[in-house]
Amino acid sequence: MTQKPNPLNSIKVNGPIPAHLARSVIEETLRSAILDGRIPCGTALRQQDLADLFGVSRMPVREALRQLEAQALLNVIAHKGAVVAPLVQGDATETYELRILLESEALRRSIPLLDAADFDLAARYIEELETEHNYNEIGRLNRLFHMTLYSKAPNRRLLRLVEDGLNEEERFLRFNLEAMGLGKLSQEDHRDLLRAVEVRDIERSIKLLEHHLNRGVEVITRYLDSSTTQGKKASK
Ligand code: NI
Repeated sequence: MTQKPNPLNSIKVNGPIPAHLARSVIEETLRSAILDGRIPCGTALRQQDLADLFGVSRMPVREALRQLEAQALLNVIAHKGAVVAPLVQGDATETYELRILLESEALRRSIPLLDAADFDLAARYIEELETEHNYNEIGRLNRLFHMTLYSKAPNRRLLRLVEDGLNEEERFLRFNLEAMGLGKLSQEDHRDLLRAVEVRDIERSIKLLEHHLNRGVEVITRYLDSSTTQGKKASK
C-alpha cells in the first residue's frame, strides 16, 4: 500500500505562534496553500489535525476555517467538515453574470472617489502584468488591478462579495491559464478601462468592464467544454 501524501506536510510552521495571532496566522497560511494548490480541491481539513500542526487549541482553528469559508475557499459539508472548494463553483456563466453585476456597481460607486494615487497604482499593476510570466503572479496582479478600481466604493459588503469573485477567478487562473493558451490577460482591455476611469466616464468604464468580463467567461467556457470532451482529464 502506498500512502497518499498528506497535503498538510507542505505547510511549515515556524515556532510557537502567539495566541493573539493564531487565528490570522492559520488563516493566512491555509489561504496561500489553497491558492497555490499545495492543498488541492476536495481535501478535508480536520480541526484537530490543524490544531496539532500549528500547536494551538481548536478555537483559533475553527475561527480561521470560518473566515476561509466566508471567502468561498472552503465548504463545510455535513460529516466531512471543512473541504477545500472546487475551482469554479457551479456554472461559470452564472458566476460571471453575477460578477458583472457586482463589479459594475462597485466601479460606478468607486469612480467619483478615486484619486491620482489610485490611478498610479492601477497603472503600475498593468506595467507589472506586462513583464510577468509567472502564472500565480499574473492572477494576483489581475485581481489587484481590478480591486484598485473598485476600492473606493463605500459599501464594504459589496466590496467583499466582489473580492470573493476575484479570488475564485484567481484560483482558477493559477491552474488553467497556461492550458488556456492565454499568455497575457487582456492587457488592452485593462488599459482602455483605466483610461475611461481616469476621465471618470462611468458609462464607458462599465461597458468596457462588461466586455472584459464577458470575454473572460467565453474563454473559460470554451476551455471547460474542450477539457471535458478531451477524455475528462483531471475531472474530480
Ligand atoms: Ni482583468
